[in-house]
Amino acid sequence: MRTIPGSELIINDDGSVFHLHIRPEQLSEKIIMMGDPERVKLTASFFDNIECEIQSREFHTITGTYKGKRITALSHGIGPDNIDIVITELDALANIDFATRRVKKDFKQLTMVRVGTSGGLQPHCPIGSYVVAQKSIGFDGVLNYYADRNTVAEQDFEDAFKKHVNWSPLHCSPYVVSANQELIDRIGFDMIKGVTISAIGFYGPQGRYVRLPLANPDLNSKIESFKFGEHVITNYEMESAPLAGLGKLMGHKAMTICTIIANRLAGESNANYKGSIEDLIKTVLNRI
Ligand code: URA
Repeated sequence: MRTIPGSELIINDDGSVFHLHIRPEQLSEKIIMMGDPERVKLTASFFDNIECEIQSREFHTITGTYKGKRITALSHGIGPDNIDIVITELDALANIDFATRRVKKDFKQLTMVRVGTSGGLQPHCPIGSYVVAQKSIGFDGVLNYYADRNTVAEQDFEDAFKKHVNWSPLHCSPYVVSANQELIDRIGFDMIKGVTISAIGFYGPQGRYVRLPLANPDLNSKIESFKFGEHVITNYEMESAPLAGLGKLMGHKAMTICTIIANRLAGESNANYKGSIEDLIKTVLNRI
């Protein structure tokens, strides 16, 4: 059996995993994730009691109980590259014996629900609505670095999408992955189901023109007009695809729900979304 070298999985002197700085016993199997470290504090304000709190860079973790359920609230920062770090370390905490550095015999399945903010691309996803990423399209390429990506990616969808938008060969090849169906049915049953793009940046990579002109200014209108069966692309954010893709490859349950804070069609946004994200967090805590 393989012993994972210290260079591949770095364990800190206190027995915690490298970036998240948490120890295996501090993680619950139920995890609510979000970009903003402050939102972890907000989430934990609904907990009945707090077991531990760890802050390391943008990764803020609080484990506690909510109505009798042990839950970990964790911030992952911004971007798909962070998700590679967070999900690999969460999986290691659950499934690698830190003393022997070997994969444990019994697999522990994690449930990971990300609550995020997003920009809407369709008229049926107005500001303030909640959109479940039933499918995610990763523009980031993270999944493509892992063997067996084709076992979780939906290649017909990928091919149709690349053709429709005339995908640039300078970009990473996009990957399409579905969220865990049981989580969609249990947690997102009364919300809009959509196809969410995880972009590799907030500005140019989501078609925002501030000062630098875009290489492909028509990309968003092509994205908006794309259809695959009954599916249309509903929103942009930056993390759901690597979470769904790596989560599925590892055997965990994962999904993302976003509150829409910008309407890309109308050119409008709402920076005062605290109430809407707070309600979404409470809903997820009750249903996770
Ligand atoms: N987050 C994003 O990535 N894009 C938006 O438009 C809003 C929030």
